[in-house]
Amino acid sequence: MQKTLFIGGGGPDYSEPQDLLLKYGNRHGLIAGATGTGKTVTLQILAEGFSDAGVPVILSDIKGDVSGMAVAGDPGGKLHAPFTERAEKIGFVDFRYDSYPVIFWDLFGEQGHPVRTTMSEMGPLLLSRLMGLTDAQEGVLNIAFRVADEEGMPLLDMNDLQALLTWVGQNAADLSLRFGNVGASSVGAIQRSLLVLENQGGTHFFGEPALSLDDLMRTTPDGRGYVNILAADRLINSPRLYATFLLWLLSELFETLPEVGDVDKPKLVFFFDEAHLLFEDAPKALVDKVEQVARLIRSKGVGIYFITQNPDDVPEDILGQLGNRFQHALRAFTARDQKALRRAAETYRPNPRFDTVEAIRDVGVGEAVTSMLQNKGVPGVVERTLIRPPATRLGPCDAATRRAVIDASPVKGKYETVFDRHSAHEMLLARAEAAAQEAQEAEQAEAREAQAAEKDREFKAARRYSGGETESRSSRSRKATSSGGFGKALTDVVLKELKGTTGRRLVRGILGSLFKGR
Ligand SMILES: Nc1ncnc2c1ncn2[C@@H]1O[C@H](COP(=O)(O)OP(=O)(O)OP(=O)(O)O)[C@@H](O)[C@H]1O
Ligand SMILES: [Mg+2]
Repeated sequence: MQKTLFIGGGGPDYSEPQDLLLKYGNRHGLIAGATGTGKTVTLQILAEGFSDAGVPVILSDIKGDVSGMAVAGDPGGKLHAPFTERAEKIGFVDFRYDSYPVIFWDLFGEQGHPVRTTMSEMGPLLLSRLMGLTDAQEGVLNIAFRVADEEGMPLLDMNDLQALLTWVGQNAADLSLRFGNVGASSVGAIQRSLLVLENQGGTHFFGEPALSLDDLMRTTPDGRGYVNILAADRLINSPRLYATFLLWLLSELFETLPEVGDVDKPKLVFFFDEAHLLFEDAPKALVDKVEQVARLIRSKGVGIYFITQNPDDVPEDILGQLGNRFQHALRAFTARDQKALRRAAETYRPNPRFDTVEAIRDVGVGEAVTSMLQNKGVPGVVERTLIRPPATRLGPCDAATRRAVIDASPVKGKYETVFDRHSAHEMLLARAEAAAQEAQEAEQAEAREAQAAEKDREFKAARRYSGGETESRSSRSRKATSSGGFGKALTDVVLKELKGTTGRRLVRGILGSLFKGR
């Protein structure tokens, strides 16, 4: 069985093979470097290597240029000469072009299979982050989720959460008695944030069929790992949605996958491009959670590789967990750059042959200062590595190729059609309709009663005229109405409320009681 993944050549003349040990592939990694220094190509060759070893890979494609992995590199292209020269230099005799098995995904469902999850799976913590809620608002959202849970109301799509929040707003007073302050202004603020999210494309993302994680862990019949490419060019315009989505994916993997302990090779490798977005103004609690998930997910066989320009973008606790490192060149124009460079260099085991700071400043394009975990999981001595050329095309694949790949995908047809299950929105709507109906009946009953009373008065007047006495019909009529046409759900209090109220207004008022008295 394959035990290593070839990265490139190190040593004084780049001829010493540098390998990543597959059994430490789940000890996470970092690909860093200034723009244009070779990060994407390094990501690409790592993804190729993992796929060859039968490890499925997930990566986000921010510039659209990773989609080229679906296509073999071009021996007639202008990169062919530098590629073969590079391959020769590092002794990469097996170098050949090849395409890789790719599954395209897209939150917006345009450039790949749609990726969806449900509101409940996302949960209040991540949703709060997604919507940028304050602590107080997050508290209210938690209560809303809890109530939906108690009521057995599935929260699937945005409509569900909207309907639920409306209900929470109407019943703020009652809920405050049970759970503490549920401010109407907080509810309003959450609803407004939800609208923003909707405008950012959240509608596509929340609903069913929800993504099944198994589909991200596929291998081909001949044993290669699928490369799952998530279109992120549009997604990245909503950085919060981007970061939260990937975070959600990570936590889902964490919760779903079984414990496997030490592995021969990872079960799955996750590349997280533009990783700084994950941590940018993220609250401490969230960073702590990422740190914790990163630490624990290793034993489930999942490796996470962060890609970012500056290693400083990654919080220290997390940086400390990244065992396999590919540091491309960092610029050092300002004093601050220089400090960052020194800090980056400090995290490596020095190589007596060169100075790490200088190396990180001087490495050429497609060259990196690397350090990979060695036997017993000890960090390797830092090396200047000329990274191997990729087998797949650099840059995007064309639209026709993308289409063809999507059409031939093993998950074709599974996620394309949205289905709208009976959930909170429909349930609340049904209750509202039932309430409206009951209200209407009540009004009719009221009208009948009034009519009867009128008749009664006439009758009495007539009786008075004729001088006799009869029993009032209005009390009988009321009794009949309250035990008959009125639903059991309506209490006497509600009944009282009904009087003189129009149907619509009533619906808004008593929806809460119906919700509770289900
Ligand atoms: N390992 C490599 N083998 C051959 N060529 C490479 C290699 N790495 C980088 N290059 C060359 O350098 C170019 C830029 O690399 P790449 O796109 O990976 O940079 P980047 O760091 O991802 O930049 P950005 O920050 O702009 O995304 C590539 O298009 C390719 O021509
Ligand atoms: Mg890039």
